[in-house]
Amino acid sequence: MAETKKLMRALRGETQAIPPAWMMRQAGRYLPEYRATRAQAGDFLSLCYTPDLATEVTLQPIRRYGFDASILFADILLVPHALGADLTFVQGEGPRLSTVTQQADFDALKGPDDIHDHLAPVYQTVRNLSAALPSDVALIGFAGAPWTVATYMIAGQGTPDQAPAHALKDGNTALFDALMDRITEATIGYLKQQVAAGAEVLMLFDSWAGSLKGADFAAYALEPARRIIAALKAAHPEVPVIAFPREGGDSVIGFARATGADCIALDYSVDADWAAENVQCDGCVMGNMDPRHMVTGGQPLIDEVRRIRQAFSGGPHIFNLGHGITPDANPDNVTLMLETLREHS
Ligand code: CP3
Repeated sequence: MAETKKLMRALRGETQAIPPAWMMRQAGRYLPEYRATRAQAGDFLSLCYTPDLATEVTLQPIRRYGFDASILFADILLVPHALGADLTFVQGEGPRLSTVTQQADFDALKGPDDIHDHLAPVYQTVRNLSAALPSDVALIGFAGAPWTVATYMIAGQGTPDQAPAHALKDGNTALFDALMDRITEATIGYLKQQVAAGAEVLMLFDSWAGSLKGADFAAYALEPARRIIAALKAAHPEVPVIAFPREGGDSVIGFARATGADCIALDYSVDADWAAENVQCDGCVMGNMDPRHMVTGGQPLIDEVRRIRQAFSGGPHIFNLGHGITPDANPDNVTLMLETLREHS
């Protein structure tokens, strides 16, 4: 049967006059209906682990806006949680985890195959969504890339420069490599289970890839992505993978070819004309409007949507922001973004 979902067509390499669109963090605090469901859940992790509520918040932006894709509501830190790390989200401060800095911390982690009971609610959410989504909306599953997940597991929280992870990488490379390997294996199993439950596309978030330079980028951003994608393609050759090596700079050139990714998500620091020439030549790209426009709106938003659409009009493109929409965004600006994107030029 011919593929009808716009997102899948872009991922298979089709150039479309009006690209498919969705937003990173489209289910989030900028939406009053999200805040209401989150209050009902009590806290963020309960929301992630309660399939009915996670399904509901995933569907909210689809109902309100009619995006072309829906992303599973979960978090990249559920994998460390399933591996045995303590995890809490402190209101207004972000995640706090128990740390892995010594061999004993690593030895206390679960094996990569022992995470699935803990993650069963996530798989149930994927099954719910697979049944509930409109037939033209694609379902995206996701995980954090190993380096980004490791930065949180090592520091126990978000860090501006990922210094604790760099310190372990350089000071105890054997332990760091063992941790990266554990996360990589767990992530492969986690994503395979998401596909088994109904995910049609997978996305790998390497939010802190930009702090890896030179040989470190090759070893710890590119190589784990290549390994994860190879394992997924061996099991599910038909499932496209989107890689997001955020702030990778020039390293996004050739990243798709080197890793086997079907699409590169571009952060908003990347010039769209440059990326059309240097990245889109290898296939689909996703992005990359600055999320600040969703706060400020108006003519600058309209101009920027048109500029990005035009820049990527010569090849396969998925319209998105260059990072997640922020809690202070105005929900009406999302409508303006989609109306502008879908207007005939
Ligand atoms: O995009 C979506 O709508 C799907 C769900 C999703 C969430 N987090 C929900 C979430 C996805 C794909 C993520 C990915 C994620 N989580 C990343 C990679 C992408 C990125 O933003 O760079 C990272 C680094 C995390 C870790 C994380 N989760 C942090 C650092 C925080 C705290 C910061 C913040 O925005 O509050 C979270 C919390 C989080 N994850 C929220 C949401 C909707 C906000 C939680 C709330 O309701 O208070």
